[in-house]
Amino acid sequence: RQEIGMANPPVESMKELPSGAGKIPHINAVILGDSLASEEHDLVFPSADFSREALVSSPEQYLQMYRRSIEDPAGFWSEIASQFYWKQKWGQPVFSQNLDVRKGPIHIEWFKGGVTNICYNCLDRNVESGNADKVAIYWEPNEPGPHDSLTYAQLLHRVCQLANYLKDIGVKKGDAVVIYLPMLMELPIAMLACARIGAVHSVVFAGFSAESLAQRIVDCKPKVVITCNAVKRGPKPIHLKDIVDTAIDESAKSGVSVDVCLTYENQSALKRESTKWREGRDVWWQDVVPNYPTTCEVEWVDAEDPLFLLYTSGSTGKPKGVLHTVGGYMVYTAITFKYAFDYKPSDIYWCTADCGWITGHSYVTYGPLLNGATVVVYEGAPNYPDSGRCWDIVDKFKYVTRYSRKSLRVLGSVGEPINPTAWRWFFNVVGDSRCPISDTWWQTETGGFMITPLPGAWPQKPGSATFPFFGVQPVIVDEKGVEIEGECSGYLCVKDSWPGAFRTLYGDHERYETTYFKPFPGYYFSGDGCSRDKDGYHWLTGRVDDVINVSGHRIGTAEVESALVSHPNCAEAAVVGVEHEVKGQGIYAFVTLVEGVPYSEELRKSLIVTVRQQIGAFAAPDKIHWAPGLPKTRSGKIMRRILRKIASKQLDELGDTSTLADPGVVKQLIELADR
Ligand code: WTA
Repeated sequence: RQEIGMANPPVESMKELPSGAGKIPHINAVILGDSLASEEHDLVFPSADFSREALVSSPEQYLQMYRRSIEDPAGFWSEIASQFYWKQKWGQPVFSQNLDVRKGPIHIEWFKGGVTNICYNCLDRNVESGNADKVAIYWEPNEPGPHDSLTYAQLLHRVCQLANYLKDIGVKKGDAVVIYLPMLMELPIAMLACARIGAVHSVVFAGFSAESLAQRIVDCKPKVVITCNAVKRGPKPIHLKDIVDTAIDESAKSGVSVDVCLTYENQSALKRESTKWREGRDVWWQDVVPNYPTTCEVEWVDAEDPLFLLYTSGSTGKPKGVLHTVGGYMVYTAITFKYAFDYKPSDIYWCTADCGWITGHSYVTYGPLLNGATVVVYEGAPNYPDSGRCWDIVDKFKYVTRYSRKSLRVLGSVGEPINPTAWRWFFNVVGDSRCPISDTWWQTETGGFMITPLPGAWPQKPGSATFPFFGVQPVIVDEKGVEIEGECSGYLCVKDSWPGAFRTLYGDHERYETTYFKPFPGYYFSGDGCSRDKDGYHWLTGRVDDVINVSGHRIGTAEVESALVSHPNCAEAAVVGVEHEVKGQGIYAFVTLVEGVPYSEELRKSLIVTVRQQIGAFAAPDKIHWAPGLPKTRSGKIMRRILRKIASKQLDELGDTSTLADPGVVKQLIELADR
């Protein structure tokens, strides 16, 4: 047990809290300070110094703010929203919602009628309030060496130039722009430029293949794709422009054409002369953008106008275009950033996520810049040139001796359950047993943190995301959708909306309702399992649907399966997640070959290459398990439960196999496990 100081003096116990507490998180009296005989609770306390300086410094302060956020959401969120610039204030009601499919279509609106611009609030507002010369972005290139930086004023100029260019080529409010860039400063610049003119950005992670990129282009039909010629992640250059060329050709086959491919020349990876070029369509960023004025009028938009689309994996094949709108997302990312990281204006903040994922949207770009923070953007891989790189970067931007990490104040973790051993390593080794860890649970769909420690407010438990953020009401339900109270485990749902919630799946509101609101009517269903312990702490146990989480990358098993079966020798495939020491989950694929095709090492490799090509390297199966047949029910449904047990070698837990159409396949599969 790591206990680093006692944060708070003993105080009132829960039973003295006023009524309405039914909706209020249950926080055990132990944590409220009643008794600190907490050996069995495995609590890790923030230091008294940390708590004293923290924005929220005790469980009581949290409970008081939380209670207000639930009992008076309109008032609570209006106050927070008022910290931003609104050209015109929102109307009444502050929000309206229906999360119950039985009562009609699902709809969520926050600050409707309010007119604002998130780029203005990130940049102009900070420039005008005295932060013009504060560094907005430190950019660390792949190769160790000199870095680059932009102040808020400089960032604003760059964003305006690109915004003017986009306007000039005809991009208008509501138009989609696809961004396929690595972690260059130009990535947040491109996002902000779109936001400034009311265009809807759709960032595609630059590790996605041409086919995945094409699929997204076909879905959202952008006029413009923004990319760069190449990038180096580690020692090897990746020719992004070639991937984009292929994707645009592929999209054309579905009748979707892209007018302009704006290409940033990333000289450190590849010179422009060796880049393939399509005259008339391709434009070098450096040839046009710097010629535009450094000021650009803001397009004022409604709070409920779309800000971005971000495609994410679901349990069926096609990726889903998660749509976020301007106002609620702005307010929610800003405030979650501030509290979950206990942000102080003197902090330098580094989030290692890529802007191709939601974490990079909310907590590299928007959340921190809305707070006027200084953000580190790193181009490369965390282990290049060696595994000390991260700590090198940490120390560099705080200018202390090599790898001291003394500057660290708060650590963060996201994307998958962090196991207690990893948590302790992170805490003891990286943070010198000094820095609280914000283990933030949330999703692309939720826009921002949902269940997260507030680092100075309460003790942590290694591996638990702890308690809900303000305004968020997590509930745990059983199979029938009935809420379970107290110590329990079940399906994690959310009651009522919060400002950062996604509003729809682009072009498919029906799928939105079916996936998220029909499984447990009356609630938003997260797709995750969760348990709550006797102290009220939440423990995320992973996806309960067919989504797997590989090094924090979310992948639908169906996507991998459809890539595999596109291979001419593959007749059928079933993919499950298995525990993986390094990646959290690994991809385990059962593959049935076309009649007469023999197993071979070469075929195994070519199946893996197919997945890499169709989705991206991060989705490559760790294991191909040859399967003469798959365990299916009589109605033809693959019994994944059994496959998961075989994959994780829990053979004595196979359970009932008698309902299988052919129980013999299980034995065959077990025999073939090591082939
Ligand atoms: C998982 C990433 C445990 C979860 C922000 C969720 C987590 C999925 C945590 C969303 C966490 C995210 N502890 N599991 N702190 N954070 N997850 O959309 O399964 O890429 O449903 O968003 O990641 O992944 P997504």
